Amino acid sequence: MVILKLPEEIEKARASNQIVAEVLSKLRDKVKPGVTTRELDKLAEEIAEKRGAKPAFKGYRGYPYSLCTSVNEEVVHGMPSARILREGDIVGLDFGVLYKGFFGDSAITLPVGKIDAAALQLLKVTEQSLYEGIAQAKEGNRLGDISGSVQQIVEAPGFSVVRDFVGHGIGRNLHEEPQIPNYGKKGRGLTLKSGMILAIEPMVNQGDYRVKILQDGWTVVTEDGRLSAHFEHSVAITDNGPDILSEVN
Ligand code: MF3
Ligand code: CO
Repeated sequence: MVILKLPEEIEKARASNQIVAEVLSKLRDKVKPGVTTRELDKLAEEIAEKRGAKPAFKGYRGYPYSLCTSVNEEVVHGMPSARILREGDIVGLDFGVLYKGFFGDSAITLPVGKIDAAALQLLKVTEQSLYEGIAQAKEGNRLGDISGSVQQIVEAPGFSVVRDFVGHGIGRNLHEEPQIPNYGKKGRGLTLKSGMILAIEPMVNQGDYRVKILQDGWTVVTEDGRLSAHFEHSVAITDNGPDILSEVN
């Protein structure tokens, strides 16, 4: 069942997502060669707490941290640690909060210092695929319009879409229906309606789409060891089109 939200509920979800946006924007300034992923986790937690928001991932299915930090071949759900980020790395930062009853969820992938041209292209294409997907998030379109648009942007330059993890509805729960694959056929699937809030989150690999989970039970990595990128926004479908709740205002 897809839960539609009233305009006042969308405003609550916006407040939650704006805290997530503030956190990611401050983390962006922190990401430099020499910083540890644990420091980023601590900062995210501090800012959320200052705003009266609860980090959404900590304790979720036993996940032990507030932030997910996925470096290089790590796709998603990388765990903060004493690992020092080095020039040339890329790092995915995924953060969520619960605030006044509504969840916010967003992710970015950042370069650490100067990165090579191929890595930069992966980041650009992944972010572009998110925005192409978002543009399709409007009343009367189908879920496949989002999925198919993302897939097309990703595959054109030869990158691949991760299959094993998908986007999701979001609201009073972190994960609601529908699931939002980043691959599929335009014109197919669920009809989109005003009042839906969708967390659209392409995970894009430089090489093969296949992934595996490390022994820690969380960290998802590419099977071929090549790079992966992830961007996510929580987006409300309104009568005026897509409204990106987790965009910095
Ligand atoms: N953005 C991710 C998601 O939507 C974050 C979940 S990480 C977890 O699923 F630790 F909470 F599982
Ligand atoms: Co998500």
